[in-house]
Amino acid sequence: PTGLLADTLARPLQDLRISITDRCNFRCVYCMPKEVFDKDYAFLPHSSLLSFEEITRVASLFVAHGVEKIRLTGGEPLLRKNVEKLIEMLSALRTPDGRELDLTLTTNGSLLARKAQALKDAGLKRVTVSLDALDDKVFKQMNDVDFAVSDVLEGIEAAHRVGLGPIKINMVVKGGMNDQEIVPMARHFKNTPYILRFIEYMDVGASNGWKMDEVIPSAEVVRRIHAEMPLAAIAPNYTGETAGRWRYLEENGDGGGEIGVISSVTQAFCSDCSRARLSTEGKLYTCLFATGGHDLRALMRSDKTDAEISTVIAHIWRARTDRYSELRTANTDGLNADRKVEMSYIGG
Ligand code: GTP
Ligand code: 5AD
Ligand code: SF4
Ligand code: SF4
Repeated sequence: PTGLLADTLARPLQDLRISITDRCNFRCVYCMPKEVFDKDYAFLPHSSLLSFEEITRVASLFVAHGVEKIRLTGGEPLLRKNVEKLIEMLSALRTPDGRELDLTLTTNGSLLARKAQALKDAGLKRVTVSLDALDDKVFKQMNDVDFAVSDVLEGIEAAHRVGLGPIKINMVVKGGMNDQEIVPMARHFKNTPYILRFIEYMDVGASNGWKMDEVIPSAEVVRRIHAEMPLAAIAPNYTGETAGRWRYLEENGDGGGEIGVISSVTQAFCSDCSRARLSTEGKLYTCLFATGGHDLRALMRSDKTDAEISTVIAHIWRARTDRYSELRTANTDGLNADRKVEMSYIGG
């Protein structure tokens, strides 16, 4: 009965993304640049993080409000100690009408080969793996910690073997850095079970020095692939899907599969955005680009009841007006450039 929560733009609350650690073993130039996230960077102390019990408690309140998809992010979520235990706890949650959740996770793949089986056993449904290049030199330039492509590919295969699919591969395209990898990546993942998605480089956070001229518009991505491997647009899987879908035109009866393009800069998708985000320390953010969150941890640690916290969540969602990417389209320098929270903290 509470599943009818809608914000001021009539957008339902359907999707909860939870950052379970602000740490990462990569230093991707577009996310955690080394100059900012150096040895002196103040990551959160353990006592600030939500415990697994707290995360599960908040999640259950969101599920009661209609959330059907939960994504664990970070930072790198597989760095959180005993993450399998958390997945086990979350996978026990049910929608008000008794269905299982779409429980998933976004990872850089570095620990996936080792952990895939345990994640599957704990009840994780699927994974999305970030991979920005096939060429080792380019990939290492992007992750900035000398991590090799082959180790990520092994992680992806391990996840596929244990049944953590359908697996999506996310590539952030930064002009002048990895855009020459667009076509090789497309070719590599064509005719595989994996869905490759190209993400426009966004002005998220305050440390990546984002410039509009480093964004390769999705239309250009599609144009470059289409020139070599013809594509046709296909309909979205669900309302509010982040990615525009394209399928390879059939050759000799073989489909080739599909790709996706996530155009948050050139074609914002705020009008259907049903995503709430829970930061590593338990703040609720109603937009990826928000400058402030609502402290749910404080409520939990001051013995508020479930009903009280649930009411707070409902009030926050009903008052929601966010549509940052749509507004920024008109202002290509980025808005609130130095007040935004980092993606590793709020969760990609
Ligand atoms: P599926 O459940 O597989 O459809 O995944 P998803 O596309 O909802 O989530 P995923 O984490 O794979 O999103 C991929 C990327 O899209 C993120 O890393 C962000 O770069 C971007 N993205 C996701 N959600 C939002 C959003 O609400 N706003 C903006 N601007 N970008 C988003
Ligand atoms: N622009 C677009 N996507 C980003 N991510 C992190 N930083 C950015 C950015 N500046 C996303 C990518 C990556 C995931 C972990 O976070 O999708 O795969
Ligand atoms: Fe880590 Fe992912 Fe950010 Fe790269 S994009 S630094 S892998 S959290
Ligand atoms: Fe949703 Fe904000 Fe992203 Fe728009 S910019 S799609 S409102 S998270």
